Amino acid sequence: MNIVYRFLKTVVCSACYLVVSVYMAYAAAPGPKVSELGNKHNLSALARQVGTTTLVPNTNLYRATNDATNNPAGQQVCIFCHTPHNANVEGGAPLWNRAFSTETFSRYSSSTLQIRVNSAARTPAQYDSSTWKPDGSTKLCLSCHDGVSSLGAVLRGGGSGIAMNPAGGNVISSDTAISFASFKPSTNKMKRGHHPVSFVYNSAVAAAINTGKGVASYALPALAEVKLDRNSKMQCTTCHDPHQNQSDDTDAYATTPPRKKAPFWVYHNGSNTASADHDAVCTTCHPLTSPEIGVGPAPAPWP
Ligand code: HEC
Ligand code: HEC
Ligand code: HEC
Ligand code: HEC
Repeated sequence: MNIVYRFLKTVVCSACYLVVSVYMAYAAAPGPKVSELGNKHNLSALARQVGTTTLVPNTNLYRATNDATNNPAGQQVCIFCHTPHNANVEGGAPLWNRAFSTETFSRYSSSTLQIRVNSAARTPAQYDSSTWKPDGSTKLCLSCHDGVSSLGAVLRGGGSGIAMNPAGGNVISSDTAISFASFKPSTNKMKRGHHPVSFVYNSAVAAAINTGKGVASYALPALAEVKLDRNSKMQCTTCHDPHQNQSDDTDAYATTPPRKKAPFWVYHNGSNTASADHDAVCTTCHPLTSPEIGVGPAPAPWP
């Protein structure tokens, strides 16, 4: 009896272990490709079932209407961002099929921000409120994420605009009950709700932000996946890979809608969780060690 019980227990537990490890391996695998079901940057009416070539109706909130006759461009994937011909090439954009946002965004702001107040860490005028503008790949992102631009308004191949499914509509909503993805200026997300972007990150900046925090060396990002643009600027793409989440795409905070811990994340290491992949990116530039966190003078009030 006892032996049978032990045997069963071993079998059941190994099965559990297998299920858990398979689940963990699965959970930590990269998210769906941009053409696949479940990738939020697939705005097509159709999506491939993950890992196959079978096309099924896309289920994203933001997607084109499925009508091969009247809305054929809506069944394409890359078209929402790229075109092989007559692209918007301003600033070296990658065959970009969209006009840039005409909204005015405020720079991320705090009175102690080194890249703003410290002359050693500040490329002249780069972070002045009067001159700062999003640039580089950040402009690509904001051509949809500005909460104003029509998702279906592509420059080439979409006729007078790709028709979008009324369920999500043509514009990323700034209603957080529906979506967290809007950077519409009125949400102040560029100003306070998301990491600063479009600024030079170099060793002087690294030194300035880490001085007095017990950090031994001020290295530039050590992970190859954490990239600056060709002007040495940190952009949205320093943290995000717009084509595919390299980290665990399933791990999210329990909000409505769920807010992912590392969405479209640039980095994944082995069996890391989303949180570990997230922190690995942050600590390439902010290599804080626990006793030093929170030590320092109280910050001045925000302007
Ligand atoms: C939601 C927008 C979006 C969609 C859809 C999209 N891309 Fe991109 N793509 C980008 C952005 C943004 C960049 C620039 C990345 C950077 O600056 O690091 C890019 C860059 C690229 C590059 C340049 C090299 C690289 O990987 O950075 C290639 C090639 C590319 N995309 C191909 C494609 C193809 C093929 C598709 C369709 C299967 C596609 N993309 C769909 C946004 C998109
Ligand atoms: C063609 C329009 C378009 C472009 C260009 C675009 N996005 Fe998006 N993005 C969307 C839409 C639509 C969603 C889905 C929003 C939702 O469902 O709430 C989204 C969602 C996201 C998400 C959340 C993903 C998730 O799985 O929860 C991230 C992160 C993101 N975008 C980052 C970026 C970055 C960074 C860039 C530029 C490199 C970019 N996007 C460019 C349309 C775009
Ligand atoms: C320092 C890294 C970093 C940079 C730079 C960054 N993001 Fe994010 N982003 C994150 C993280 C982490 C999340 C997951 C939610 C969270 O922790 O706040 C996220 C979430 C998102 C989401 C999903 C909605 C949400 O807020 O949860 C969108 C959309 C998004 N980012 C777009 C952008 C765009 C556009 C830019 C450039 C203007 C950008 N991100 C720059 C780290 C970054
Ligand atoms: C490429 C380097 C780099 C990466 C990667 C990076 N940061 Fe930053 N971060 C900076 C710089 C530079 C500043 C500006 C700080 C300053 O000037 O005082 C900054 C600012 C901040 C601030 C605001 C400080 C303030 O005074 O308002 C916070 C918080 C922060 N980062 C957290 C994060 C988190 C969390 C991540 C990962 C999701 C991350 N950073 C990834 C370089 C980086």
